Amino acid sequence: MSSAALSFTVEVRSDVLPDDQREAVLANPGFGKTFTDHMVLATWTTGQGWHDAKVTAYGPLSLDPSAAVLHYAQEIFEGMKAYRHADGSVWTFRPEVNAARFARSAQRLALPELSVADFIESLKALVTVDEKWVPVGDGGEASLYLRPFMFASESFLGVRPAAAVTYCVIGSPAGPYFAGGLRPVSIWLSTDYTRASPGGTGEAKCGGNYAASLAAQVQATANGCDQVAFLDAVERKWVEELGGMNLFFVHRDGTIVTPELTGTILEGVTRSSILELAGDLGLKVDERRVSIDEWRDGVASGDITEVFACGTAAVVTPVGRLAWQGGELVIGDHDVNGGVGSVTASIRQSLLDVQYGRVADTRGWLTRLV
Ligand SMILES: Cc1ncc(COP(=O)(O)O)c(C=O)c1O
Repeated sequence: MSSAALSFTVEVRSDVLPDDQREAVLANPGFGKTFTDHMVLATWTTGQGWHDAKVTAYGPLSLDPSAAVLHYAQEIFEGMKAYRHADGSVWTFRPEVNAARFARSAQRLALPELSVADFIESLKALVTVDEKWVPVGDGGEASLYLRPFMFASESFLGVRPAAAVTYCVIGSPAGPYFAGGLRPVSIWLSTDYTRASPGGTGEAKCGGNYAASLAAQVQATANGCDQVAFLDAVERKWVEELGGMNLFFVHRDGTIVTPELTGTILEGVTRSSILELAGDLGLKVDERRVSIDEWRDGVASGDITEVFACGTAAVVTPVGRLAWQGGELVIGDHDVNGGVGSVTASIRQSLLDVQYGRVADTRGWLTRLV
């Protein structure tokens, strides 16, 4: 990998949160509620390219009310985690894959590219200064969630790519995604809304995709479900993904099937990692289109034995129920392991073991941050 072009100046704040208060936060961090003492900032302009890269005090950004992002949503982001290993070192998982996706998202949103090396350097810069905010793994699932993002900060009204852009990385300590322990989630099948269409921004990680998913999420919640599953926008027939996670179907013959990438699905780092890991667990993989009828019929016939969702935040999560306007089906047996299927559980464990350094990193997936 080429070396970083940007060097991050470090402005350590004098008023960091006292140790006892930080420890109190880390004892019960929840998800996305509290943030570390510092953040990364860098600026891009058409004249100067990337410059002014620094680690500075976490705090409000000053934006002109005409800043383009507030009007035209020219914004992208990433989500990853820093894991503390038993020897105290801090690592992240496949950051070059997130960096490459960030570059693809930038291209789709007409934002400037940040090199893979600069992206990884920005994570190292933040986590080095805020290292104490990385929770102790302790066999649990605590981590420091890292959120790199980039947005149009130029002040102007008019629809064109901004000439001034801000890059920022913030960190948020995270406990296990499911506070009460792993449990199967219920999914609402959205038939009113779609998330992405061919030629659109579905395979980019841009804020607009999530804004567009919220009305469906409101319906999911109103129908007693945790998350939304979206179908393709053309035929309204092919299962794509959830609002924030990819989907896998476990078949009775030991094959795991995930919807193929069609340009409207976000290519999850967790998804690709599972496709690579599966062989180690004696599973076959298949990437192809999966219709909603195949999901319903497969569960009814017993051909589909487990369904799970995957993503950085919740790792691997069993899906226990699919509901839609006028119907529902239950997946898996809630009397066995609380509804967590054995294939789902072993894939989840394999990923966590690599991420927390509990098994050898044979694929070179980990990058040391501190
Ligand atoms: C729409 C969507 N799909 C899938 C994923 C899973 O991606 P990853 O495994 O890279 O976290 C995410 C989360 O980033 C997402 O927002």
